[in-house]
Amino acid sequence: MVPLKRRRKDGGAAPIAGVQERAPVNRFPGVEIFLLERRMGSSRRAFLTQLARRKGFRVQDTLGDSVTHLVSESNSGDEVWEWLDRQTGGQMPGSLSLLDISWFTDSMETGRPVEILDRHRLQDALEVLAENAEFSESEGRGLAFRKAGSVLRSLPFAVSRMEDLRGVPCLGEHSRKIIQEILEDGVSGEVEGVLRSERYRAMKALTGVFGVGVKTADRWAREGLRTPGDLLTSGHRLSREQEAGVRYYEDLNCPVTRAEADAIGEIVKEAVHSILPGARVTLTGGFRRGKEAGHDVDLLITHPEEGKEEGLLGKLTSWLDSQGVLLYQRVSEGSGGRGRESGPMDHFHRSFSILKLGEQPGAQPGASSADQTQEAAAPRGQGGAQGRGWRAVRVDLVICPYSQYAYALLGWTGSQQFERDLRRFASQERDMSLNSHGLYQREQNRYLPAASEEEIFTHLGLEFIPPPQRNA
Ligand code: CTP
Ligand code: MN
Ligand code: MN
Repeated sequence: MVPLKRRRKDGGAAPIAGVQERAPVNRFPGVEIFLLERRMGSSRRAFLTQLARRKGFRVQDTLGDSVTHLVSESNSGDEVWEWLDRQTGGQMPGSLSLLDISWFTDSMETGRPVEILDRHRLQDALEVLAENAEFSESEGRGLAFRKAGSVLRSLPFAVSRMEDLRGVPCLGEHSRKIIQEILEDGVSGEVEGVLRSERYRAMKALTGVFGVGVKTADRWAREGLRTPGDLLTSGHRLSREQEAGVRYYEDLNCPVTRAEADAIGEIVKEAVHSILPGARVTLTGGFRRGKEAGHDVDLLITHPEEGKEEGLLGKLTSWLDSQGVLLYQRVSEGSGGRGRESGPMDHFHRSFSILKLGEQPGAQPGASSADQTQEAAAPRGQGGAQGRGWRAVRVDLVICPYSQYAYALLGWTGSQQFERDLRRFASQERDMSLNSHGLYQREQNRYLPAASEEEIFTHLGLEFIPPPQRNA
């Protein structure tokens, strides 16, 4: 969360570190990116660097005078300025824009540097407030800030004055106040305060551990714990899941690339086919929606002859375990039935697992951290992708009966917000109940079968929405 464009006050160029080592293709002359490792961590920085370079962006390992876009994550504006001051002795490099990670993510998604709009700063600010509300278990407030953020994202125009937002829905009084502050002063005092607060930082770090929810993180934060590392030294009893979360903290907080997701898909496919020929394995979740990176890999598994899928999960995970690939798993038993009374949770036999992925050709280059001498120590687990030839990846393995496959596919493709909206639509507009098992017509008291996602949309009286358009 940083102010957008503050230019240096003096005219002098100030190269900070020496020679640029690499100069890969630059499809976008005039855009040179530097990623601030502080709070981002070295793995994630290395991943993002590689991602951007693959897409033809120039990313500099050091902050030289030619850098035009400085991208940071979870730092307040003041913190970035302090860091810059220390690095440059008060002399800022050329014409430098300070940007939050959302500019970077949007640019990667679009495949070119997106315009620097105020919208990014506004979205980021609202995102921080949403998180902060969720950390206090104020789900309602959190949702309100999230909605405000996604409304801003969807606006087809830049926002530069409050008048631009007249008549825009989903913007509550609080959100509008924050937006106004940022438009007028460049920063929001409230947001900066949150980003600097010890509580927010501790909650962010602790909820970043797999298996740690808001309640647990809150208890630990009150006891004075700040980082995942503190958990190891404090003698707290950890669940098996949390232990894995701490052990693989860095890997699990480093996004999974498409190539890695495909590689995991191949490993699982091979295993499944050796156990049950004819079974189908489908990559769902964010990757099916075309995302380039995600927090996990979601795989849906079925067999065209219904019933053959029974017992498959146990055999599959035993096989993975025997290959040394299964680092952790928690199995949730399928309870059968369609579960229409049980709300949005489904009842498939599934495994929340962590798998070990060996080195992929071209993946995860060594991190360069020549300029990281003054970095505050980021929270680290014992893991870390660098130099050991493998990484841990979160994987969801879901088994479904063939007759429910279309519904399971729709349900597991997401996004979560899209699923929520679609289910609300089914209920309120069609008097139907939709979940990952089926579509129930209340009045006729029957389930509507569907062999494809298209058929489900037809049942709902909607035009088919392809996965890439299900992101919001
Ligand atoms: N889902 C579900 N039941 C769960 C968990 C997830 O039905 N217990 C569905 C959700 O609808 C979600 C989809 O599976 O949209 C994928 O979930 P998730 O992996 O959490 O999100 P992604 O959209 O894949 O995002 P990411 O790339 O961060 O993994
Ligand atoms: Mn996912
Ligand atoms: Mn998932």
